[in-house]
Amino acid sequence: MMFDKVEEYKAMIKAAEAKAADDLEQFRMKFISKKSVVTALFNDFKNVPNDQKKAFGQALNELKTLAQDKFKSLAETLDNGSSESASQGVDLTLPDIPNQNGSVHPLTITRNKIIEIFERMGFNVASGPEIEEDFYNFTALNFPENHPAREMQDTFFIEKNPDKVLRTHTSNVQIRMMEEGKPPFRSIMPGRVYRNEAISARAHCFFHQVEGLYVDKNVGFKDLKQTVYHFVKEMFGENTKVRFRPSYFPFTEPSAEIDISCFICQGKGCNVCKYTNWVEIAGSGMVDPNVLANCGIDPEEYTGFAFGMGIERIAMLKYQINDLRLFSENDVRFLRQFQGSF
Ligand code: PHE
Repeated sequence: MMFDKVEEYKAMIKAAEAKAADDLEQFRMKFISKKSVVTALFNDFKNVPNDQKKAFGQALNELKTLAQDKFKSLAETLDNGSSESASQGVDLTLPDIPNQNGSVHPLTITRNKIIEIFERMGFNVASGPEIEEDFYNFTALNFPENHPAREMQDTFFIEKNPDKVLRTHTSNVQIRMMEEGKPPFRSIMPGRVYRNEAISARAHCFFHQVEGLYVDKNVGFKDLKQTVYHFVKEMFGENTKVRFRPSYFPFTEPSAEIDISCFICQGKGCNVCKYTNWVEIAGSGMVDPNVLANCGIDPEEYTGFAFGMGIERIAMLKYQINDLRLFSENDVRFLRQFQGSF
């Protein structure tokens, strides 16, 4: 009877498998621990008739060794991560989790493209402070003392007397450049600007500009036109038309606003061009002689042109985005659409 049990356990031990750590633990509990069936048999030893004690003792020791050897080999198989045990509960046919790569922001893509086009024409890139003294944002740019753009509804004032403002355009960089250096200047100035406007699909309290400045001997309006023509064709395509519309800026004379033919509807009429077939992309003009003089440059010797465009506006046209707010909401559903663009 007792011998039968030993045989039965031997068979169970030989057949045992461990596919996971749990199985191994169960084996240990059943055949090796203090509460194991093997221990139970040892405890029963005293009930074995004397003449069988020797044989039974031998059988029990064999059983114990068998259990220990088997435990070792099961543990080793598990450690080696046999393919069967490692894949337990894992569906190897599931597709991989795709790489969540970030994407370049559409404003950065557009800015880089603008910079690239102007760099090829020999412009370099300049930058300046966003918190600016009134002098660089307004006075040096020929803004009269009572000009409405200085008033609270347009400008964020940081400090009063002397005034510090969040710059309302990147023209401050032009002044700083001209003040510090000597002509010729051929630079563009990309950067963030601020205006105190109610936030809507078409206006925001901050946006980005690229301004350009070219000052040298004999720079004329023709140079401005040719530069803009080249830029527009590179940016929007060979067939895009350009028109200069007379305008006014305190710091340029003459001044012109630059429109391009609506490349979204190609003349058919749409919401973006409000059925006029023209969309405005920039302000421009010949640098006012007063501005040159304010920066210590002789306006009799040097002339220059300047222009300024909104990066958001160019990006909205190029990617047909209809709400300015999308650029700053960080909605990945929007941003992801620019994956793969640079
Ligand atoms: N500074 C002007 C603006 O922010 C743009 C501009 C720049 C116009 C240079 C003419 C020349 O609106």
